[in-house]
Amino acid sequence: MLPSPPLLLETITQRVLSSSRYLNYSYPRASYLFFYTHTNTPPSLCGWRATFLLITGAVGLRSRNLLQNRMVSPAIALAFIPLLLTVLIRCRFYFVLFYRAVLVRIWRDWMTGLSREERAYQYVLTHATPGDPDSILEAFDVWCSRVEFISNIGPKKGKILDRLIMQQSPLTVLELGAHCGYSTVRIARSLPLGARVYSLEMDPRNAAVAEKIIRLAGFDDDTVELIVNPSDEVIPQLRSEYGLERLDFVFMDHWKKCYLPDLQMLEGSGLLGKGSMIVADNVLFPGAPKFLRHIRKSGLYEWKVHRATLEYSKGIRDGMAELVYQGTK
Ligand SMILES: C[S@@+](CC[C@H](N)C(=O)[O-])C[C@H]1O[C@@H](n2cnc3c(N)ncnc32)[C@H](O)[C@@H]1O
Repeated sequence: MLPSPPLLLETITQRVLSSSRYLNYSYPRASYLFFYTHTNTPPSLCGWRATFLLITGAVGLRSRNLLQNRMVSPAIALAFIPLLLTVLIRCRFYFVLFYRAVLVRIWRDWMTGLSREERAYQYVLTHATPGDPDSILEAFDVWCSRVEFISNIGPKKGKILDRLIMQQSPLTVLELGAHCGYSTVRIARSLPLGARVYSLEMDPRNAAVAEKIIRLAGFDDDTVELIVNPSDEVIPQLRSEYGLERLDFVFMDHWKKCYLPDLQMLEGSGLLGKGSMIVADNVLFPGAPKFLRHIRKSGLYEWKVHRATLEYSKGIRDGMAELVYQGTK
């Protein structure tokens, strides 16, 4: 039996004020029970995230009608205030990300007539020293953390990438997803002499910015070759067209749905040898569950996930997967 609306409101308010555990456990559970008894939603949806989504969706759709027709008392409506506050507090980092990555971008695209990549390039061009990769990365980091969000790997996960590149000392690197060339510069500056990066970017506008950034950092065509085509077209040609025999290091940072098919294509290509390293960004956010399931089940890799936060934002957990190819089983 549910308590009467005023009692429910009082209980919720008291518990929100008195216990932080309540935010994590009891309130979602209470919400679920409340919702379940009113809608007969199947128990399989009892996760608190699903509960939040269902309740806020239901409230959003129905509250105006219910209140207008006086079918729900204001006390019940008030009872949802703690719920909304909880959602706002828990999801604040996602709201900030949405604001910075979507709203600011739309506004500035409209105001400037340039893409956000081109705006970032203008900033880098006027604030970094040509031929100095460190100052180019620094200028990017300032722009992306203070002005506009761009999904570069960023400084924190970038340091993990630097360390893995130095540890592996690869001669041939494949990068999937160059975007503005931030990670390309990051990789290229840590390579041993004579090494080469093949960087793939399918969006010609992004590729044009990446090309300028890579050359501004001082890397010529012998060190970084930028290929403007989608990965599923280029990977099958790496041997025949580009003369590659082995990939020592692969950095995956393109669309997450391409991670698994591209990895399987690489496995089939024979370009991965024992000890080849594959690093995949964003495996926890936005996430690549099918890719992770494959590496866990295939037995082809020694692997681990380096936990970190999403680039240029606080509070959103992310991770980079490090895989070392062990050859066939
Ligand atoms: C997250 S950004 C890459 C960020 C970059 N690695 C960095 O850290 O600076 C993803 C980029 O991958 C590109 N992309 C997505 N799918 C691709 C594919 N299948 N082949 C090539 N590029 C792709 C997108 O156009 C986008 O520019």
